[in-house]
Amino acid sequence: MLIDEFNRVINYIRISITDRCNLKCKYCSDGDFGYIPHGEMLSYEEIIRFVRICADLGIKKVRLTGGEPLTRKGIVFLIGEISKIKGIEDLSVTTNGVFLAERMQELKEAGLKRVNISLDTMKRDRFAYITGVDAFKDVIRGIEKAMEFGLSPIKINTVIIKGFNDDEILDFARMATIYDHHIRFIEHMPFGDSDMWDSTKVIPSREIEEKIRGVYELEPSENHEKGPARMYRIKGGPGKIGFISPVSSHICSECNRIRLTSIGMIRPCLFSDTEYNLKALLREGKTDEEVKSFIRGIVKVKPEKKKEMGQIKKCQKSMRQIGG
Ligand code: 5AD
Repeated sequence: MLIDEFNRVINYIRISITDRCNLKCKYCSDGDFGYIPHGEMLSYEEIIRFVRICADLGIKKVRLTGGEPLTRKGIVFLIGEISKIKGIEDLSVTTNGVFLAERMQELKEAGLKRVNISLDTMKRDRFAYITGVDAFKDVIRGIEKAMEFGLSPIKINTVIIKGFNDDEILDFARMATIYDHHIRFIEHMPFGDSDMWDSTKVIPSREIEEKIRGVYELEPSENHEKGPARMYRIKGGPGKIGFISPVSSHICSECNRIRLTSIGMIRPCLFSDTEYNLKALLREGKTDEEVKSFIRGIVKVKPEKKKEMGQIKKCQKSMRQIGG
């Protein structure tokens, strides 16, 4: 098992398989859409080897992210291979949902169990404004298809930004009264060069929660995943509401993950730009044992806590490069 210096069990890896994205969300992109050349990204063989080694070390859960993971060719093959790896109990994808409906069948057949879908607004014109693409209807079709194929519970990730979508908090909460989705409200974090973030635009989870409690009754619910989301059942409905508060509170004690970027860097903390070059090791022909001790070493130096937001403000990298 991988246990860090602060007694956190690390059993979850998030792997960004591409920095490419078909959307250009204002809060995520850094305005620079120069993409990484293909050869600099880890190949599927390299990613599969990494997951196999991680599974040996006690990793049980894998999430594929991007960019937009469904833009990388062959993702169905990758999902098929990862889901065959002994020890991996949960394999999911974080997607913007635009290509989900058209790819659903093959993804499901390959072994995909669940999806997180990023959706920040229920209004078509706002969707086009924030993402730069008029694809709201495709995302809704994607959500419907995922339901049809039994990928439940579907998790909807919603970043609340003051003045943009804070008037839709109750609309999102209402979804959990109708469907068994988990609606997860994420505080707006300072990533990339985007000028969108400033501390005054962050709506703390507590405020979002209060607004919802004004209309719906929430009962605490166990977070089976042990991740940083605070989960609640919504009374009278099948769904759940979650709050992810990386800005307003320290969720670091619940952290159970490390990240791998698409260029093959291991990033032990989302909020620290310190990364370790896995790709170099893999390409130098190191043995599995050598890679294992490299990973153990990284887990040992995983920071206890993120820095204060003021210091994090404008992390060097954008979400699409890190993978969220
Ligand atoms: N703040 C909060 N969440 C973000 N995401 C991307 N950028 C930010 C940001 N600056 C979210 C996406 C996606 C998840 C991987 O991260 O909406 O759902």
